[in-house]
Amino acid sequence: MNDSTTGADQGQALPGGAGEGTRAVRAGLPEPVKHEPTLPGPVFAAHFHLPGDPTGPYTYGRDENPTWTLLEQAIGELEAPGQDDVETLAFASGMAAISSVLFSQLRAGDAVVLPDDGYQALSLVRAQLETYGIEVRTAPTGGDAQLGVLDGAKLLWIETPSNPGLDVCDVRRLAEAAHARGALVAVDNTLATPLGQRPLELGADFAVASGTKQLTGHGDVLLGYVTGRSGEAIAAVRRWRKIVGAVPGPMEAWLAHRSIATLQLRVDRQNATALALARALRDRSDVTGLRYPGLSDDPSHRIASRQMRRYGCVVSFTLPTRARADGFLDALRLVDDATSFGGVRSTAERRGRWGGDAVPEGFIRFSVGAEDPEDLIADVLRALDESAG
Ligand SMILES: Cc1ncc(COP(=O)(O)O)c(C=O)c1O
Repeated sequence: MNDSTTGADQGQALPGGAGEGTRAVRAGLPEPVKHEPTLPGPVFAAHFHLPGDPTGPYTYGRDENPTWTLLEQAIGELEAPGQDDVETLAFASGMAAISSVLFSQLRAGDAVVLPDDGYQALSLVRAQLETYGIEVRTAPTGGDAQLGVLDGAKLLWIETPSNPGLDVCDVRRLAEAAHARGALVAVDNTLATPLGQRPLELGADFAVASGTKQLTGHGDVLLGYVTGRSGEAIAAVRRWRKIVGAVPGPMEAWLAHRSIATLQLRVDRQNATALALARALRDRSDVTGLRYPGLSDDPSHRIASRQMRRYGCVVSFTLPTRARADGFLDALRLVDDATSFGGVRSTAERRGRWGGDAVPEGFIRFSVGAEDPEDLIADVLRALDESAG
């Protein structure tokens, strides 16, 4: 197998004949109206004029907002192109979206399967679920180990590729196994973005993501979303959003929608540079544990190439010691030492500083931005040399 920036079927014309870049720039736009902007500005409203019977669509700002409607439509068009029977709900953050799925679907006595190597706030969610009498089982993402703990579960939660370890599991296989046992399946699609992977097409019931990362890509917005097939399950998520009020501000929703227009440009640039960086790191003797699903020799590549259309902008690797990793981060000039990932400005961090991930002290999570690839790679190689002393 060859290294690749793209996996299955990327670049083909999509249903309706339009390619992904075309769909990204037009996603969620309303029909043109003379003298109106292409993308209407944010609607700031806590309430809407509502004489008579309180019927929708717009009644109160915690339930619905026209700016969310357009954003939700845009995300739905990318997560589930050509599918009319799906609904997308925008949330205040990725965690709001994740919690809304878990807490709306699970009851005392139910069992849920979570990854043991997923985003670190999942362990906080786990503790909270357990206080409500929900049984939480965990399994690692790689190797489809979830299959062994599915019997009797109500919900399977998948994060693929996982953050920060970049392991991948077979969504189609796991979804079939979960459905055969009557369990629902949710996939955290944050790292891949809807241009990298479409969980609903792979059989999942929910695609859930933090829009804070590459979806919006500028490091200035907190956002989350859930896309699911119409029906009871997504209706319960909508109800949960209303109950907890975890709604995005109109400004954030509008910024997110504006950013989605450049999603394909950003992911193609960032992901291609991520692959180039991973290749450059492969040649370094001081780098171990290198992971990038687009590398042909990565343990995730075989499954990733079947179910992903792009492999993300995050590269993970380990430097020999904590001091060496800190020295490397200090020596970088084009890369901010910051958490989060997916932005147009490269960021990197020593992930072990948070204490929540099972990673070596020298483990670096590197998020590749939109800088010129040769500048970025030169900066990384120089910082590696300098930090080696
Ligand atoms: C995979 C994944 N899911 C969810 C989240 C949570 O998103 P947010 O920070 O928008 O709440 C993160 C945050 O880093 C993440 O990496």
